[in-house]
Amino acid sequence: MEVVILLNSKDIGVLAADAIETLVRQKPSAVLGLATGSSPLPIYNELARRYEEEGLSFAQAHGFALDEYVGLPTGHQQSYREVIRREFTNRVDIRPENVHGPDGAAEDILAACRNYEEAIRAAGGVDLQILGVGTDGHIGFNEPGSSLASRTRIKTLIEQTRRDNARFFDRLEDVPHHVVTQGLGTIMDARHVILVAAGKGKAHAVRDFVEGPVAAVCAASVLQLHPHATIVIDEDAASELRLADYYRQTYANKPRWQGI
Ligand code: F6R
Repeated sequence: MEVVILLNSKDIGVLAADAIETLVRQKPSAVLGLATGSSPLPIYNELARRYEEEGLSFAQAHGFALDEYVGLPTGHQQSYREVIRREFTNRVDIRPENVHGPDGAAEDILAACRNYEEAIRAAGGVDLQILGVGTDGHIGFNEPGSSLASRTRIKTLIEQTRRDNARFFDRLEDVPHHVVTQGLGTIMDARHVILVAAGKGKAHAVRDFVEGPVAAVCAASVLQLHPHATIVIDEDAASELRLADYYRQTYANKPRWQGI
């Protein structure tokens, strides 16, 4: 696990966008794993800028969303399918039919989850997965206690996550209780994982999953077992890390050709 500590969210967005650009230039048909929430927005802004100003193309790329609320009507502004469209895919030239998300409105949720796993496999697997982290250490919506081997399935949000996400809705009561999320096993199959986090509110979660034990109670800690996981965070999110100086020193002395 590589930990990169940067000054602010803009720098985080640029570094993650660099990795995505390198991938998409080497492999135009790359499969991107897309997170929602506020953490990845600087990445999407930077990629949209590079598309507009520098011609970075996603025309052959594929995207798979991490998760989706259950019970929101199709087209709801806060459904993750809509959020991904608004924040990223509508701003670049990725083909709409190449962008997929778990179906939170399916009659048969179990079958929809199996189909989603199959669609990821059929696309060749995720090359680069973008992740945020919840204040309770969730990735995707794998709340505390999630099996470290889990696949796409329905989960119940804990109240803290519903409260954290209430800022996107009119009222807390409007935040769904259920979600469909890629499992931790699904996320671990991605070839490269980049988790981004900023702000003091994420400092405990970052400390727990980077330097604490690998345990289902902190889902993101499973990334300690990933062969290529890059954690890109700002100074506030890094403020409780015991080895922060070591991470800074390691990154400062890393040959730039290696990328992340
Ligand atoms: C979103 C997702 C969640 C968020 C996490 C952090 O698709 O899977 O794990 O990444 O809840 O959310 P923000 O970035 O809004 O703090």
